[in-house]
Amino acid sequence: MANPAKKIRVSTIRAKKKSGEKITVVTAHDALTAAMAQAAGIDIILVGDSLGMTSLGFQTTLSVTLEMMIHHGAAVARGASIPLLVGDMPVMTYKISAEQAMMNAGRMIQDGAMEALKFEGGSEMAETVRRVVDAGLPVMAHIGLMPQSVHAQGGFRLQGKEEGDAERLLEDAKNLEEAGAFCIVLEAIPSAIAAKITQSISIPTIGIGAGAECDGQVMVISDILGLSGKTAPKLAKQYVNLYEPAVAALKHYISDIKQGKFPGPENVYK
Ligand code: KIV
Repeated sequence: MANPAKKIRVSTIRAKKKSGEKITVVTAHDALTAAMAQAAGIDIILVGDSLGMTSLGFQTTLSVTLEMMIHHGAAVARGASIPLLVGDMPVMTYKISAEQAMMNAGRMIQDGAMEALKFEGGSEMAETVRRVVDAGLPVMAHIGLMPQSVHAQGGFRLQGKEEGDAERLLEDAKNLEEAGAFCIVLEAIPSAIAAKITQSISIPTIGIGAGAECDGQVMVISDILGLSGKTAPKLAKQYVNLYEPAVAALKHYISDIKQGKFPGPENVYK
């Protein structure tokens, strides 16, 4: 487990690939979940735009705006100071031009209190990644299933199955490494492809639905904690089901009010 007293930086994450220590990443969307992740000793908190589908109730991440990410990023930063804080750039806030990406990345850093940014996209994003990294802002890349391209990719489904996909994904990873990304998320691709990419590049790979050979793993916090009451997707593992005890506690509260049991004498100011 990471030393909870020591700030995790990009250099810490890079060093873990060399030492072979697995990298742990989880999403968080507010100060409460960020504080839990920090208390558990997580390396990286990703303020993912999956917050649109979890905390905000949208069907996809396409409804998430820069202002929402900034709002949630700043809340996460108030809850956790030790893990590296990475903010997802929401759809169409970084793909129009490198200048647009740099300006909006700057806002995520200044107003959203993030320490690094995540960009979805392959080789076509390499030049933008290079410019943002050259400006001093660390970038986490993201290839494979890219939720912001859900309609173009045919839904939330396994990628890398077609002829030539494995070579293209490997080339993307190499180009993003060469452009200066400090690590790369591999989402929903066959584990053999992820293993090959992991062996072929010097920056860490962070898998989600990409097998155990990746240098680290990322999961959405509501999937780990079972907050939604729904079955977690195949690429996730639910470690606890907090939805049911939470609903039970709320039912208990309602019944206590109705029966005059709450507030009790201990809750009343004399
Ligand atoms: O938005 C998100 O939570 C993500 C992770 C699943 C990688 O992009």
